[in-house]
Order: sequence, then structure tokens, then C-alpha cells
Amino acid sequence: MNNQIIREEYCKARGRNIFARFTLKVLSGIARFTIVPRLRIMLYRLMGAKIGKDVFIGLDCILDSSFPELITIEDDVVTSFRIMIICHGIATESPEKSPGKNDRIVAGVTLKKGCYIGAGAIILPGVIVGEHAVVAAGSVVPRNVESYTLVGGVPAKKIRSYKNPSHPLST
Ligand SMILES: CC(C)(COP(=O)(O)OP(=O)(O)OC[C@H]1O[C@@H](n2cnc3c(N)ncnc32)[C@H](O)[C@@H]1OP(=O)(O)O)[C@@H](O)C(=O)NCCC(=O)NCCS
Repeated sequence: MNNQIIREEYCKARGRNIFARFTLKVLSGIARFTIVPRLRIMLYRLMGAKIGKDVFIGLDCILDSSFPELITIEDDVVTSFRIMIICHGIATESPEKSPGKNDRIVAGVTLKKGCYIGAGAIILPGVIVGEHAVVAAGSVVPRNVESYTLVGGVPAKKIRSYKNPSHPLST
């Protein structure tokens, strides 16, 4: 998993003003519905997401517009439509405390080279999806996904591993 950082500390160090935050929301809204895939990628990069070569991001995806700079998408990744990548939430180390301002965290999400994210999947803060892994449609992914592994469900569980990287769904 990628490290969790206390949100207040992260925001203080980063010092993003209200205009920058507003711009990110606007860019995110435009990117989601931009028909041309290459333009979509350009907009997500402009927001600060680190996106490699030959990446495809489907229509109507939500890349965390509060902390897009914490998203890393490596080369050859494909994400289907309506996926969500979330980089902020609440810390769960102290479940007896009710979630409050000081419990909020941020954590990066990394999609490693060649992985595939099925339609409507939700990738939660801190998750690293391994190389050539496949996340089935509609899954919620709270933990790292090993490379060359198919996961699915809510929460996503391992369905199978596969051997041939050029045919990720072969067993
Ligand atoms: C992940 C996926 C590729 C698996 O397809 P497959 O290799 O044909 O796998 P199967 O249908 O044989 O299913 C294998 C197992 O995974 C389960 N499974 C399949 N899809 C699942 C899903 N979305 N969520 C949870 N479990 C799923 C099946 O129930 C089955 O479990 P079982 O062995 O206990 O019966 C496919 O289900 C999927 O989600 N594709 C993405 C579709 C998509 O996003 N399309 C957009 C186009 S860009």
C-alpha cells in the first residue's frame, strides 16, 4: 500500500489556494466527458495526475479532483468507463474514534504497467494495482492487487492468477 499522510498536514505543506482547487474541479468535470481519449489524458495530466505512455482512460471516470497529483498511472494501463480513483478518506487505525477532521488522510493510488480496470470499479486510497493485473467490473478495491492476478467483487478478492502477460485472462 502507498503511505497514508494526515490530510491537514499534507494540505498545509502544499498550500493550494481556493482558485487552484476550483480549477481542479472544473478540469475534472471537463475531462470526464471529453470525447477524444488523448485530450482526456491531457486534461488529467494538467490536473497533476502522473500518466505514462499508451494509457487509455474511459469516459466518465472520476480521478480524485482534490488530490490528483497522488495518482500514478503507468504505461499501457487501460481503465474502462466510470471507474473511480480515490486518494482521500478517513484513517481506520482508531475505530473507536468517530471520524473527524483530524482523522482524515490522503494516500496515493498507483496503477502499475499494463493493468486493466473494469467498468465502474472503485480504487480506494493507498492501493497499488500490480502489473498486468485485472480488476473486474464493479469491484471495490481496498487492498493492493498482486501482479498478473484477476480480482473481483466487493471487497475485491483474488479470482485467479495467470501466467502469460500478453494474454492476461489466460490461465
Ligand atoms: C473480469 C472479467 C474479465 C472476467 O471474465 P472471465 O475471465 O470470462 O471470467 P468468468 O466470467 O469465467 O468468471 C470467473 C469468476 O469470476 C467471477 N466474476 C466475473 N466477473 C466478476 C465481477 N465483475 N465481479 C465479481 N466477480 C466476478 C465469476 O463469478 C466467476 O466466479 P466463480 O468461478 O466463482 O463462478 C469480466 O468479468 C469483467 O469484469 N470484464 C470487464 C468488463 C468491462 O469492464 N467492460 C468494459 C469494456 S471497456
